Amino acid sequence: MAQQEEVFKKLIAHCKEYGFVFPSSEIYDGLSAVYDYGQNGVELKNNIKRYWWDSMVLLNENVVGIDAAIFMHPTTWKASGHVDAFNDPLIDNKDSKKRYRADVLIEELLAKYDDKIEKEVEKAAKRFGESFDATLFRQTNPRVQEHQAKRDEIHNRFVKALNDNDLDGLKQIIVDYEIVCPVSGTKNWTDVRQFNLMFSTEMGSTADGALKIYLRPETAQGIFVNYLNVQKTGRMKIPFGIAQIGKAFRNEIVARQFIFRMREFEQMEMQFFVRPGSELEWFKQWKATRLKWHKALGLGDHKYRFHDHDKLAHYANAATDIEFEMPFGFKEVEGIHSRTDFDLSSHEKFSGKSIKYFDPELNESYTPFVIETSIGVDRMFLSIIAAAYTEETLEGGETRVVLKLPPALAPIKLAILPLIKKDGLPEKAREIIESLKFDFKCQYDEKDSIGKRYRRQDAIGTPYCVTVDHETLENNTVTLRDRDTMLQERISIDKLSTIVGEKVSMKPLFKKITEG
Ligand code: GAP
Repeated sequence: MAQQEEVFKKLIAHCKEYGFVFPSSEIYDGLSAVYDYGQNGVELKNNIKRYWWDSMVLLNENVVGIDAAIFMHPTTWKASGHVDAFNDPLIDNKDSKKRYRADVLIEELLAKYDDKIEKEVEKAAKRFGESFDATLFRQTNPRVQEHQAKRDEIHNRFVKALNDNDLDGLKQIIVDYEIVCPVSGTKNWTDVRQFNLMFSTEMGSTADGALKIYLRPETAQGIFVNYLNVQKTGRMKIPFGIAQIGKAFRNEIVARQFIFRMREFEQMEMQFFVRPGSELEWFKQWKATRLKWHKALGLGDHKYRFHDHDKLAHYANAATDIEFEMPFGFKEVEGIHSRTDFDLSSHEKFSGKSIKYFDPELNESYTPFVIETSIGVDRMFLSIIAAAYTEETLEGGETRVVLKLPPALAPIKLAILPLIKKDGLPEKAREIIESLKFDFKCQYDEKDSIGKRYRRQDAIGTPYCVTVDHETLENNTVTLRDRDTMLQERISIDKLSTIVGEKVSMKPLFKKITEG
């Protein structure tokens, strides 16, 4: 664990050093849980967004996009339930004065029991070798059974307290299982209280009567209130989806782990409107499609898992998370929810306007049910960059840090490096960039030795480097260096566009998503 924390610290430092992520307003010592994306970060982020957007609106004829405003009429948030129910249960440690989410403290305790069980299984697997039957071992080993029983007991109490909104019940679990503050190490806790996560501000001058409005805590409501506009103007037939990418804001109690939990972040959400009764079938389909989208990136299939929700949100009749193995354990990156007709019905009630859909095939009107896929851009960014960050020892003992980013997402696709700064090599390098810059993002670099320049490109994940040397002037060939293998081959300049173009294209990823 300590080693993972060390790697995570290095990753954060790397993100800053190479222009991916900076603390917000850093010259004033930053702002808690707010970050800015630098010159390479914004390219990676835009590529992630493009990958998501095209996978929705390009691959699906019946999914279209919108871009709704961040500010919405305040009744929106009354109707959505966020004013009354968008709360986290918080608890303070009286000694350290640190604030925690009570549910997170308990989830961490559950994870400790899971770890204990896995360790027992791993130990036994080593001991018994190939003949080891993990399932049987889990069912029969007394130590595993003991941990499992304890875990189940805590879990059952936890689920009950969440479902009953029983704040005292949550506190009692923390007390009974002697959860201590990670900072002070004491059990001196306050009671658990509810804390609303929405930021609010005022619109208009006080003389006019200022209106209290909220910064949206999710982008989804912009889709719900526009669903009929889109359906009518786009002549959409159910089932159809509306996709949106945009900023969301939450006054998180525990904002930590770098860009994992931020107060200002970005979401990519898609609401899929379906006939009532068909929602669970669509839920299953979108679960499968979204997992394929993640796995197509090639970061390692074993790094993903589903986590079904113990407590369903006020709007859902089924919900799961796609979790990714971050440097600090498996964590939610995306939520997939079957939101029933909760939002549309509620907006209908609060606005007094009918937003029912007329289904020409059934010849009847109804309120559609909704499947939502909701993923955080920043969490996706973190999962990709964490999986890509690699420290390698090369032959001869030299080390390099390389970001093994999926080429389609890399900020720079090709670096063009003149071997020396004279003899017409820089001019030739510029000429190559001029011919390729319409195809993909290229970068010119002539400073320092060629080795140092390769390392700089490795550190930002550039899939290919081209070196222009004296032979280039004679026969129009260059050396092309592969980031991962570091192998170089001599190729004709004419072939660059095709070779690099194929390597960095999103098309193979899209094919994987659509393959049966
Ligand atoms: N519309 C449903 C919704 O907002 P959510 O599970 O609260 O559901 C969806 O959020 C996704 O948004 C999460 O899976 C996560 O990737 C991202 N997200 C939520 N809160 C975040 C935060 N404070 N910082 C960064 N990303 C966040």
